[in-house]
Amino acid sequence: MRAYAFNKQRASYRRGLVLVMLVWCHPAIAAPKDLDFNRDIRPLLSDHCYACHGPDENKRKAGLRLDRREDAFKTLKSGNRAIVPGDLKRSTLVQRLTSRDPDELMPPPEEGKPLSAGQVQSLIRWVKEGARWKNHWSFIPPERPVLPKVRERDWPRNEIDDFILERLEKKGLKPAPEADKATLIRRASFDLTGLPPTIGEVDAFLADDSPEAYEKLVDRLLSSAHYGERLAANWLDLARYADTSGYHFDGVRFMWLWRDWVIDTFNENKPYDTFTVEQLAGDLLPDPTREQRIATGFVRNNMTTDEGGSDPDEYLNKYVVDRVSTLGAVWLGMTVGCAECHDHKFDPLLTKEFYKLYAFFHNVPEKGLDRIRTDNPPPRLPAPTPEQAMRFVETDFRLRDAEKTLQDRNNELGETQEKWERETNANPPPKPSDEGLLALLTFDDTIRPSTRSTATEQASPETKAEPKQPIVEDASPARQGPQV
Ligand code: HEC
Ligand code: HEC
Repeated sequence: MRAYAFNKQRASYRRGLVLVMLVWCHPAIAAPKDLDFNRDIRPLLSDHCYACHGPDENKRKAGLRLDRREDAFKTLKSGNRAIVPGDLKRSTLVQRLTSRDPDELMPPPEEGKPLSAGQVQSLIRWVKEGARWKNHWSFIPPERPVLPKVRERDWPRNEIDDFILERLEKKGLKPAPEADKATLIRRASFDLTGLPPTIGEVDAFLADDSPEAYEKLVDRLLSSAHYGERLAANWLDLARYADTSGYHFDGVRFMWLWRDWVIDTFNENKPYDTFTVEQLAGDLLPDPTREQRIATGFVRNNMTTDEGGSDPDEYLNKYVVDRVSTLGAVWLGMTVGCAECHDHKFDPLLTKEFYKLYAFFHNVPEKGLDRIRTDNPPPRLPAPTPEQAMRFVETDFRLRDAEKTLQDRNNELGETQEKWERETNANPPPKPSDEGLLALLTFDDTIRPSTRSTATEQASPETKAEPKQPIVEDASPARQGPQV
């Protein structure tokens, strides 16, 4: 118990020390170099101003919006401008942040969310330096950064090494020695194919003394079919690939044809734009190929249900929402799911826009309850292999041949039968004599009603000679009456 308390105390002492060092060394606090809008400014505006100067129209004060560039810089109803880049005097925002009058000060003191002196300084400096606004980071195209300066100039072999070395040097560390060849081939194989090298491959690599041995190894791995599998794995995760339907029974469905399309696509090194278009709308391309149609399996990867009691319309909606959300996360680099139900202060996408995208995907002739546990829910695409397609055609020809033969035989039979009927009618065979007849069974009706009628008609000799109803007759009086 005591030891524990002691250790705890020591640990918290250490934490304190680390904290002090962090405060000392943290560049933003020690000596702020460049202010970054997204890192240093937007969070302040968001936490302290958006409640009254943000996206919520109903709560917006003084017509001032600080979450959008064009609004933050414009002339307000009062005639003032909150932010005039580089001009502290004319920027009302600066005056309001530094005012000594509690009625003027922003945020209003009664809100209880005051800015610290340092935060106010950051905002002022930002305006002074030109109030550089930046889009949300996910909309900023990546830029090639300037290479950092390093001391050990011989070590880097490509630009990435420069960045690693810079950090190492900053920390006073030396790069680790180069790995031996067996380790290298193991790493490269896992990295590019997801599989370990075979013993033969290791031996071949060890035996290759040429200076390009490693390049050759990498080329071999890049041209391996497993390379596509390795790259596809990430995409399959993003695209919510599964060979089962997900909800409830998690029944079987077959999406592996689409999966193989992804693998082949990576192995072919298909350009990203084609990769995108084919998966989202391959079927809408002019004369789409079988592969372009299969690519759209991406859109059908959503989970489906067949659970009794579920509301079909609700689930149909879920499927479409899933497609829009996946499109946002996978292609636009932003989660858009919140906009399904309401606008949100940080979402660049409005609910209205969410449903504009929704409309594109709300045209699959599918059902909310797929009612299938062992196969893909319709609509489906027949996707035979070329060999299977050939066999389909061949089989179809054979079927038509057989149908033709059958028809010919039927025609022949018709003629023969007609002839026979004509001849037989003209020259009927003699009637068999009914001498010694015990029973006459005509088999053209059930037995039960005929035996009943026998009971009443039996007396008439005429009936006996020319029975209209099927009759089971028994002359013995003891056995008269209904029989089975
Ligand atoms: C609780 C609500 C609230 C918050 C939070 C708030 N303000 Fe205000 N703000 C107001 C109101 C109300 C007015 C209009 C009355 C006034 O001018 O005092 C106003 C006016 C202003 C004006 C003057 C607009 C003009 O037309 O001259 C500026 C600039 C301003 N706010 C900046 C800010 C900044 C910057 C923040 C965050 C650091 C902030 N406000 C936070 C409520 C708020
Ligand atoms: C399925 C519909 C739905 C989705 C999806 C959804 N919300 Fe909401 N959200 C609501 C509803 C309904 C309310 C109102 C709840 C209430 O008033 O009781 C709400 C309220 C809120 C509020 C409170 C707003 C206020 O003024 O009090 C916040 C914040 C919020 N949602 C954020 C989010 C975020 C962030 C996401 C995405 C991660 C999200 N919501 C996704 C339906 C949804």
